[in-house]
Amino acid sequence: MERKKVTIPGIIRLYEAAERISMLTAYDFPSAAIADAAGIEIILVGDSLGMVINGYKNTLPVTIEEILYHTKAVARAVSVGLLVGDMPFLSYQTGIHDAIYNAGRLLKEGGAEAVKLEGGTNVTDIIRALVRADIPVMGHIGLTPQSIHRMGGYRIQGRDEKSSAVLIEDALAVEQAGAFAVVLEGIPGALAKTITAKLHIPTIGIGAGRDVSGQVLVFHDLLGLSGNRQPTFVKQYAHLKDTAIEAIQLYIKEVKDGTFPDEEHTYK
Ligand code: KIV
Repeated sequence: MERKKVTIPGIIRLYEAAERISMLTAYDFPSAAIADAAGIEIILVGDSLGMVINGYKNTLPVTIEEILYHTKAVARAVSVGLLVGDMPFLSYQTGIHDAIYNAGRLLKEGGAEAVKLEGGTNVTDIIRALVRADIPVMGHIGLTPQSIHRMGGYRIQGRDEKSSAVLIEDALAVEQAGAFAVVLEGIPGALAKTITAKLHIPTIGIGAGRDVSGQVLVFHDLLGLSGNRQPTFVKQYAHLKDTAIEAIQLYIKEVKDGTFPDEEHTYK
């Protein structure tokens, strides 16, 4: 059966029908093709690519050029899912002009259909300006990796009354500014539930429990390509790293003992 292209109004319809929304990162052509074929509704070219595929210590070094490069590759593979490009550190914090220019490039050159950016009340002017420029925005609050130094590490946010009140305020501000959805990362499930109940846009959780409108995971984490030690919120649905190592070890063995290539893999 042919699947219908997922659009932003389509995401809102899923939300209004109380159907949970699936979102996954993808950083290159093959991962995007797999996610899209599986039926993922939102595909995110996250700045997590800095750590996951480029081996940076955190997401701060990621540039708009890197996100653009990967968004272009992902866009070539995605035909159904909604493609969201992440705004990396310093691509929007420096002001409205930079934000519109960089987000606009993700749509114009990259083929993204929306952008995601981190922050709450501190970024509402940026979100408003992007939405005015017809650039759909997904917010991202809670454990925002670009704030690693302020947070003192990747720490669960909103554990006490004061910080949970701030996050509720952030969520409402992001919605009011015009975001079509918001990622809730690394917050207690009860707080995510409260925020979800207060908002009229979808909340997409990662480490935020199940009482949200949808879930997002990193492609490599979901498939067990990132190694075995993972944070509590990650569920590995496969163990492809182990499978890949075994396959490569078998290849090495067959090269060494001369059983590869065999007749079947040799031109006649
Ligand atoms: O960069 C990223 O992959 C993200 C998601 C995990 C939400 O921001």
